Amino acid sequence: MTLQELESQQAQSLQEVAAANGAAELEQVRIKYLGRNGLLPAIVKQMKDVPKEDRPAFGKQTQAWRAALEQALAEKFAAAGGAQAQGPAFDCSLPGRWTRRGVQSPISRVIEETAAIFARLGFSVADGPDLETRFNNFTALNTPKHHPSMDASDTLWLNDDLLLRTQTSPVQIRTMLANQPPVRVICPGRTYRRDTTDATHSANFHQIEGLYVDTKPVSLADLKSTLAYFARQMMGSNIGVRFRPHFFPFTEPSVEVDFTCHVCGGKGCRVCKQSGWIEIAGAGMVDPRVFGFVGYDPAKVNGFAFGFGVERIAMIKYGIPDIRWLYENDVRFLEQVK
Ligand code: PHE
Repeated sequence: MTLQELESQQAQSLQEVAAANGAAELEQVRIKYLGRNGLLPAIVKQMKDVPKEDRPAFGKQTQAWRAALEQALAEKFAAAGGAQAQGPAFDCSLPGRWTRRGVQSPISRVIEETAAIFARLGFSVADGPDLETRFNNFTALNTPKHHPSMDASDTLWLNDDLLLRTQTSPVQIRTMLANQPPVRVICPGRTYRRDTTDATHSANFHQIEGLYVDTKPVSLADLKSTLAYFARQMMGSNIGVRFRPHFFPFTEPSVEVDFTCHVCGGKGCRVCKQSGWIEIAGAGMVDPRVFGFVGYDPAKVNGFAFGFGVERIAMIKYGIPDIRWLYENDVRFLEQVK
């Protein structure tokens, strides 16, 4: 190759740059001349065959060519939409890669909303394991030795001492064992019962437990106003709340908590079985015997606890007729709840 040939090739390459239309064509020119198997690298490789005395002139010419070509390419690439002369061309007119986005489960939404509502009342979120001990799930919650809930037909036991928690109440015990009062927590989580699954029951469901313990006096009125606040925030300002006497081993007195039926507003309909009310939660004042189990002085502390089913709230709030829909992760369903 002569110096002249080199010059005419340079002119040719610059012409091709000038003639190129758009980033993709420019990239073709770039690859042709500057790519790994391009013309310029090939010429550099051939340099050893050039007579020794001509080499400096050849080298200079090739370098000048490369510089001129790179500059021409960079300028044109910039004009064609900012793509760079190095690396692959980016065609911003190509449609992007579409990824299907999921939708948050109503269960997670209820948990997050509940946490936000109780955060405004000074409650933080506590967590506990699904696998619990007999002590945390039953004994420390003042459950008598032969209580039917401990039966193998109700509780999923792994061995004599370990079980899949039947309620989130053991997180109360964990929290009190690890902290001194005042304690203000909610504990959302998965719970397990040996139930057969149908439209309104699932062997695996979710609860949110609440616990407030203080050395200052705490009364049933505090419990009622706390749950009424939660009801209005979660369900809307028209919701009514009522307490019915009940029994739980770990609270005394104990109540069951009903919200007015969201469908009929309390008049009575099929959903509330004509009563106007829907059962939402269990609650009560923490039994002093529970304080004994966690090393608190029952004479000095008092408090309330409550627990409710997450699925129940989600089904009422979003009008979901079948609990199983909550577990199927069918985006067609979830998108409607959104
Ligand atoms: N753990 C009880 C249940 O699962 C609910 C509850 C929680 C009742 C806290 C009173 C206090 O039924």
